[in-house]
Amino acid sequence: MRIALVGYGKMGKLIEAIALREGWEVDPKLDINENVKGSGITSSSMEGVDVAIEFSQPDSVVSNIEAIASAGVSVVVGTTGWSDQRTRVERIVRDAGIGLIYGSNFSLGMNLFFEIVSNSARLVGMLPQYDAYLSEEHHRAKKDAPSGTALNLLDMMRPHLSNPNPGIASIRAGWIPGTHVIGFDSEADTIVLEHRARSRQGFAEGAILAARWIAGKKGFFDFRQVFREIVGIK
Ligand SMILES: NC(=O)c1ccc[n+]([C@@H]2O[C@H](COP(=O)([O-])OP(=O)(O)OC[C@H]3O[C@@H](n4cnc5c(N)ncnc54)[C@H](OP(=O)(O)O)[C@@H]3O)[C@@H](O)[C@H]2O)c1
Repeated sequence: MRIALVGYGKMGKLIEAIALREGWEVDPKLDINENVKGSGITSSSMEGVDVAIEFSQPDSVVSNIEAIASAGVSVVVGTTGWSDQRTRVERIVRDAGIGLIYGSNFSLGMNLFFEIVSNSARLVGMLPQYDAYLSEEHHRAKKDAPSGTALNLLDMMRPHLSNPNPGIASIRAGWIPGTHVIGFDSEADTIVLEHRARSRQGFAEGAILAARWIAGKKGFFDFRQVFREIVGIK
């Protein structure tokens, strides 16, 4: 297996370490300087690459996906903050005949939390006296807010809630890898669910799992669906 890294920051470097441990080849590694306006992603730089892994920034992810698709390479996308362009990206993927797997959050624990939250919202939704809220905290360098994970959690809860627009708070400070809290509050009590990432390691391991899964497949996939399939959730 040979992977290309597009975005070689905190996540890219962690993914590289795991990929090398797996015995995979990691080449090319394209950070901002090697990829000005997507110029580093060409048919020749991507020749022989099985899967590209994209962890860059919200303002460059879509042009990177476009260039990776033009090179005919399947891609794992971890960059968040581009949900408004999803339809366009689905079309790019379809037209190029590649595979793309997007995860707002590749940690297995968070994907378990997605199931816990959607089931909880379904139960709590039976009692209209509860108001839902969401708060999320991330390190100060994170560019998008609310986080892509928070937006996913809201999408999962919304169909079950009497108030489809729960209160949301985003905090950016220090080095927090990612904390998401869902609360259901009534006059009598509060129910709180919390997921706290301890490091970026879990995200990187999930991205490697996704790369192995997407190799050789075509179409646009959500990592949550893949997680459900792997775990056997109906
Ligand atoms: N899905 C998940 O599970 C998950 C987990 C963690 C993070 N994320 C997301 O993944 C993204 C990256 O996170 P990170 O912690 O690795 O951030 P990071 O440390 O800032 O790394 C991003 C790297 O991409 C570079 N870059 C910017 N534009 C580029 C381009 N056009 N081509 C190639 N590289 C480019 C940046 O360079 P400069 O710094 O010089 O601009 C930086 O080195 C963020 O959107 C973050 O929210 C997702």
